[in-house]
Amino acid sequence: MAERPKSVWRSISFWRRSAVWVTGFSTILLIWLTFDTMGQIKMGTDEDLQNGVTKRVPAPTVINYHIEYKMNEKRGHEAPVIGEKEPFFGKEWSPKEAAALLHLGKLTVQAKNCMNCHTLLGNGAYYAPDLTKAWLDPAWSNDGPMLAMTGKSTREEAMAEFLQHPSKYPTHARMMPDLGITAEEAKGVVAFLKHMSAIDTNGFPRNFGKEEVTTYAH
Ligand code: HEC
Repeated sequence: MAERPKSVWRSISFWRRSAVWVTGFSTILLIWLTFDTMGQIKMGTDEDLQNGVTKRVPAPTVINYHIEYKMNEKRGHEAPVIGEKEPFFGKEWSPKEAAALLHLGKLTVQAKNCMNCHTLLGNGAYYAPDLTKAWLDPAWSNDGPMLAMTGKSTREEAMAEFLQHPSKYPTHARMMPDLGITAEEAKGVVAFLKHMSAIDTNGFPRNFGKEEVTTYAH
């Protein structure tokens, strides 16, 4: 009786070799993707901003610039566009000052657990508005209601005032509670929010600008 040829699918050495190759390939792919991602999310420098070099995560000194959110036809979604310089709380911040202010803002956001109600860059809750692009919310623009409500003349001052006394300025059915944020912390949080709005998030959250326009166009 002739012996049946052994199928390759039943060969142990075939599966062993395959496992080694697949593991090796995946490892190399993951290492490459890790480095690629780290390059993409690496924070830019103040020089990048001065030279108009676009970085996904700009330097803290982006708070010294006007930020807009514009439709990018090629990519099919909105993206932040960094414009001309504008004063932030009445001055231009040096790289060191801007980094320190942003750091204070980040610590405050963590300490007060804003994510318990809000979403930041995809993390958090959906009880309150998404904060990823809150800085760009038309409600805080010259035509929006927040400047008049808080009696302030700039977006950053109005936001800082709101953050210190949110229960004084209710706008929706849900109200944000007073969290005991100091004037200095509020400045830091506004810087943190402005910086976050300048991060290129591939259009996340979707339709941010459009939703806000329908909400406030009465
Ligand atoms: C207990 C829930 C809660 C927590 C905690 C909270 N918020 Fe809010 N926040 C709200 C609600 C609700 C609103 C909507 C209020 C309104 O529009 O009248 C709001 C509104 C805001 C707005 C205006 C949003 C916009 O797009 O105009 C900002 C900015 C904001 N919160 C920042 C913060 C920051 C920063 C923290 C942490 C320091 C924080 N919130 C913590 C509930 C919360």
